[in-house]
Amino acid sequence: MKKKLVVATNNAHKLEEIAAILGDEMELLSLKDIKCFADIPETADTLEGNARQKAMYIYENYGMDCFADDTGLEVDALNGAPGVYSARYAGDGHDSEANMQKLLHELEGKKNRKAQFRTAICLIQEGKEYLFEGIVKGEIIQEKRGGAGFGYDPIFVPEGYEQTFAELGNDVKNTISHRARAVEKLCLFLKK
Ligand code: IMP
Repeated sequence: MKKKLVVATNNAHKLEEIAAILGDEMELLSLKDIKCFADIPETADTLEGNARQKAMYIYENYGMDCFADDTGLEVDALNGAPGVYSARYAGDGHDSEANMQKLLHELEGKKNRKAQFRTAICLIQEGKEYLFEGIVKGEIIQEKRGGAGFGYDPIFVPEGYEQTFAELGNDVKNTISHRARAVEKLCLFLKK
């Protein structure tokens, strides 16, 4: 029988992406599949802390192997902000437009526009914890460009490219993104 692994998400796209890399090795289950409809707390002050908190919640309440991720945009000139607070940088509404406008405003007049997306994944397998990290470096541009993706994609140009994530589209983004890199590390570990 295949081993089961809970992915602490209901995002079908994340599940598909991981299933594609993992192949037939494991049976992936979403939160819905295990009938978890709770609002899982994410109150830590680091990406790793939040990923661990979400994974632990599943492990403690459902006793299943699982993993969770957390992502943030870390901007050099803002000492790593918005970081773990990326989703609610402009307030609790999770409004991407307001978040981007706030970031562009904070960077006004700043020469250094370097930034990175960073994803932390926490896997809990047979009671042991493992952390994986994926980073993509790039730059915050002055104005939004492109219509694909989500979050800060329209203002982030990854290193080695001239287009934003929102212009590059999901096919390119999914091969070079922070999340893809973290997931690849996780999958390499799970395949061992
Ligand atoms: P999450 O941990 O994947 O929910 O990401 C937290 C927040 O970081 C999101 O609400 C977005 O604002 C931002 N974010 C995460 N991943 C991306 C991405 O791939 N592109 C743009 N923004 C992202």
